[in-house]
Amino acid sequence: MDKLIIQGGAELRGEIWISGSKNAALPILFAALLTERRVKIANLPHLHDVTTTIELLGALGVTVSIDEKMHLAVETQTLTAVTAPYELVKTMRASILVLGPLLARYGEANVSFPGGCAIGSRPVDLHLKGLQAMGAEIEVDQGYIKARSAGRLKGAHILMDTVSVGATENLMMAAALAEGTTVIENAAREPEIVDLANCMNTWGAKVCGAGSNTLTIQGVEKMLGGDYKVMPDRIETGTYLAAAAATGGRVKVTKTDPSALEAVLLKLKEAGAVITQGDDWIELDMQGRRPTAVNLKTAPYPGFPTDMQAQLTAVNAVSQGCGRVTETIFENRLMQVQELNRMGANIAVEGNTAVVTGVDELKGAPVMASDLRASAALVIAGLVASGETVVDRIYHIDRGYECIEEKLQQLGAKIRRVPN
Ligand code: EPZ
Repeated sequence: MDKLIIQGGAELRGEIWISGSKNAALPILFAALLTERRVKIANLPHLHDVTTTIELLGALGVTVSIDEKMHLAVETQTLTAVTAPYELVKTMRASILVLGPLLARYGEANVSFPGGCAIGSRPVDLHLKGLQAMGAEIEVDQGYIKARSAGRLKGAHILMDTVSVGATENLMMAAALAEGTTVIENAAREPEIVDLANCMNTWGAKVCGAGSNTLTIQGVEKMLGGDYKVMPDRIETGTYLAAAAATGGRVKVTKTDPSALEAVLLKLKEAGAVITQGDDWIELDMQGRRPTAVNLKTAPYPGFPTDMQAQLTAVNAVSQGCGRVTETIFENRLMQVQELNRMGANIAVEGNTAVVTGVDELKGAPVMASDLRASAALVIAGLVASGETVVDRIYHIDRGYECIEEKLQQLGAKIRRVPN
């Protein structure tokens, strides 16, 4: 397994561009299954999870090709299977998003039951309950979710017990080809949901209300083809801005969308950052100052995103003062704390809150990545720490950050990847 070796101490300075959003790209790739016509998808990030999704589409017999502009063309007329195999699903939980589109288009789908992961048990009960409300027959047999629908799915009125990004996406896609209208209340409002809805509507679906907590989807007989460009990655954006804040630097990120991460920008301003922005760029300048610790509590959009919690914990670790970071979405998403404390951080965990007392200096150390965003927090800590930090198991990072070492090198970081 590759490692990242970081010599800390440099203030990040410079400009980088932001890649397409992982969490928008994955559902959009699965949405291609809804139409028999050819679709083209642009601005896909070159990430392990995207490769895995393309592999999964291939395993279903879907034809995928990449053109000279790295746009992905998807044609589903060659589909030969409706089973998402364990070998692929076990590496990427988001494979569950194949369920809704396959069921809606072909009336059947078998998906290996996605296990939990480091951050939590990650149940899929809301996905299954919603599909059953639309008339699907679902059984779990030998570790597989087996879903069938006799004829078209039927539009339904669904009230989600919990706000769930994935369940909202799965049910929105299933409803696109259902007979009649589906209303999803207490829907997730994340920008990635809006991007998926915009993409599906470009391809002929009729989704209204994306971005609000009530979605109305009018089922259509068939969807069309078309082209779509994936939105920028708001979490990658926030991660590099957090790294700039932790190192007291000045960084400009381009090809991004400031409107998708307001809660993060507000917290970074609270931490003392001077932030300027345009339509597709953000500049963060710490003016050489050390950040001030902030309190935050994760919440569904437009609240502070759980995917930025570990990164702000790392910023707090080297800030002036004490900040309380409360994780409310996942039951086990404070794992970066132990590794940060091994680097000299002073963080106590009280239930789902990390009480972070900033220290003047972190010390480089060998650390181990556990999940995607905790790994990003360790990289941020390594950039600030004195001495050398070796981050092991960085396949976690490669799932969500395109060319992380090249982008950080472009900002003046002393970081390199070594194969294990
Ligand atoms: C999506 O995961 C993202 N992944 C996650 O990003 C993100 O952290 C999460 O949304 C929350 O914003 C992708 O988009 C591929 P949820 P998802 O369903 O859909 C509970 C990253 O780092 N729940 O919104 O799996 C669940 O346990 C990843 O990029 C149920 O109880 O998250 C959690 O407590 C990590 N039953 C809460 O809802 C269900 O059927 C929110 O989960 C589904 C979810």
